[in-house]
Formats: sequence, C-alpha cells, structure tokens
Amino acid sequence: IIDVNQKLIMPGVIDVHTHMREPGITYKEDFGTGSRACAKAGVTTFYDMPNTIPTTATLESLQEKKKLASEKSIINFGLHFGGSKNDNVEEIKKVLKNSEANTVKIFMNVTTGEMLIEDNEILKKVFENSKLVLVHAEHEMIDKAIELNKNYGKGLYVCHIPSAEELKKVINAKKDGNLNTEKHPVYAEVTPHHLFLNTEIRESTERNKMLLRMKPELREKSDNEFLWEAINRGEVDTIGTDHAPHLIKEKLEKVTFGMPGVETSLALMINAYNKGKISLEMIQKLMCENPAKIMKILKRGKLQEGYFADIIVVDTKKEWIVGIDDTIESKCGWTPYENWKLKGKNIMTIVNGKIVYENGKIQENVKNGKEIEFYN
Ligand code: DOR
Ligand code: ZN
Ligand code: ZN
Ligand code: ZN
Repeated sequence: IIDVNQKLIMPGVIDVHTHMREPGITYKEDFGTGSRACAKAGVTTFYDMPNTIPTTATLESLQEKKKLASEKSIINFGLHFGGSKNDNVEEIKKVLKNSEANTVKIFMNVTTGEMLIEDNEILKKVFENSKLVLVHAEHEMIDKAIELNKNYGKGLYVCHIPSAEELKKVINAKKDGNLNTEKHPVYAEVTPHHLFLNTEIRESTERNKMLLRMKPELREKSDNEFLWEAINRGEVDTIGTDHAPHLIKEKLEKVTFGMPGVETSLALMINAYNKGKISLEMIQKLMCENPAKIMKILKRGKLQEGYFADIIVVDTKKEWIVGIDDTIESKCGWTPYENWKLKGKNIMTIVNGKIVYENGKIQENVKNGKEIEFYN
C-alpha cells in the first residue's frame, strides 16, 4: 500500500466468493454486468461459484463457463469447480489433473441452488480427491467439514462464517496442530454482510425483513462484534462477499436467499478503517494478499516490465452515499446498503496494466479479463 496524499495505491481486491449467475440464471447477473460491478468498486479478480444452471460439476460445463467468462469479463476471474450430490468424483479428478481448476466448492446445508450433498460417502470421496475444498457449512456441519479435512482432505476453506459460535469452531481448528497442518490447512472467510448487518437491522423495516435474507442468516450485533475482534486478532483469513444477486421483485415476493456484495465490500471496509475498526494493512491482507496466497495465484508475465498489474487507487477521505452518488452496475439493480453514508471510495481500477475504471466511468472498450493461473 502506498499512501499518496490520502489516495491509496494498493493491489486490486480478489473476491474469492461470488455468484455471477452465468450460465442459466443471467436475468439476475452475467459475467459482463458482474465484472463491471467489480471493476467499479476495486475488485480486479473474482472467483465464481458452481451453483449455476447447469451446475459447474462436469469438465464440459466448466470449460463452457470459462469460455463465457473469457468473452465477457472485464476483470480477471477464477472458477470454482462444484461437488455434485450425484457423485461427480471422476469429473473432479479430471478437472484437477488437467489443472482446469484447483478448488472444489461443496454445499453441506440447504441454500439457493441444487447442490446439497448429504451422502457421507460422497463427502468423503470429494475430500479425498480434491485439493482445497470450499464449504458452505453451518453449525455442526462445520465440525463435520473440519473432521473430513483432517481425515481425508488437503485443505478446507470455510465460507461466510456468520457468528461467534461458528467462528469459534474454526478458530479452534486453526489453532489445533492436528486439525490445521501444512498438509490440510484450515481457512476462515467472513462476509461484509455478517460484519455490518444483523437481525436488528433486518427486523427494523418490512422491506429489510425480505431483502436481508441469506444463508447463513444474519445474526446478532454481538456476533458482528465477535467477528471484528477475531479479524483484529488475525484469526480470519479473507473477506469474501458471497455476492449473490437476485432481482428485488424476487426478494420481495418470497423469501430468497442471497444479496449483492462486490460493489460495496471495499468501501465498507475503508469506511470501517476511518472509524478506527480496522487497519489498512489488515484490509489489504484479508482482501488481496491472503486470497492470492490461498488460491495459489501465479504471478504472470514480467512484472518488472509493467505487465499484468492489478492495481487500484482508493480515496480514503471521499464521502459518498451508496445508491445515490453512484450507479448500481449489478444486474440485480439494488444494494442492501442503499443510503449508507460512507467515507472511502475506489477511484481507479487497473486490470492487467490497463485502466478499466476511472472517476465514475467504466471503460467500455476494455475487455481484457483473463483466467487466473495458479500453481499446484
Ligand atoms: O444466501 C445465499 N445465496 N447463500 C448461498 O449459499 C447461495 C447464495 C446464492 O447463490 O444465491
Ligand atoms: Zn454459501
Ligand atoms: Zn449452531
Ligand atoms: Zn455463496
């Protein structure tokens, strides 16, 4: 991080956890709109989750998705492969062997999509045959995932940990020399919404009662506080948004889990820095450095010649109102933080050495998003 007169020059944000909805659900989002939303807010790489239609659980569907993302994304991207309830271990083996992906996401609780795995044999085989497994696991499923990782796995990344109760389980595992080892490390991800929102805010208006529903559900204010304390103790590895866009109509009609996140994640964190809740160094670690390390992102090209730089410029003092002083780029067209007054805003995004966003404008002609490369 370089501080130039309160304008920070820092690495672009890497968001390990997004649902870009392509293919199959592109009325909610697609790689074009989703990557524009990212570029605007300072995210230079997103990782997409496999609960699309079709699910990203075959080599063929992964390659098809890659093609779509390469054509449409204006920022860099990675794709998480998916574990299927119908046992796709042969596909997992193929995908990892050919380095088509290096991560597998599994769902161990009910949420949006059709990917819940309940069969213990399948879970075991997924861990045996994967490298890093990302899990949607809540409550006792977290214990189960930690156990599976210890006995069969080569790495566990617990997504969107919402509460003190659940984060304590992961912190204890991270501190346990038998559960968290070089051979099978344990990582903890926290989302902005579990830091900044809670049941009190959700229950405060009829609209919020519908909009602020997601899996895992929002928890208490005291949980927000525990997550912040854990972050500042260095017990959390990443901030991932779980960007999960749904149309506002769908959200208001019936309970629909998920909400957008990439457009506000960095600004919310810089605002928190301005309030003394977190250091800039910790923001950089959680949103840039650790994601790159955990995803094993390979530095490409000859950096000394200036190629492939993913850099953002952030004005830490700029005050703005979400949804009023900016245009929402996500196809879902709304944000849970509408009307929030924030201090701190991304003002320039450079992807692969080219400016893709500057002073409120996305450069339409720049389509230089590339698939992230990784090492084994
Ligand atoms: O709230 C959620 N929405 N949680 C998930 O795990 C999935 C996501 C989605 O895809 O909408
Ligand atoms: Zn999830
Ligand atoms: Zn519980
Ligand atoms: Zn998710």
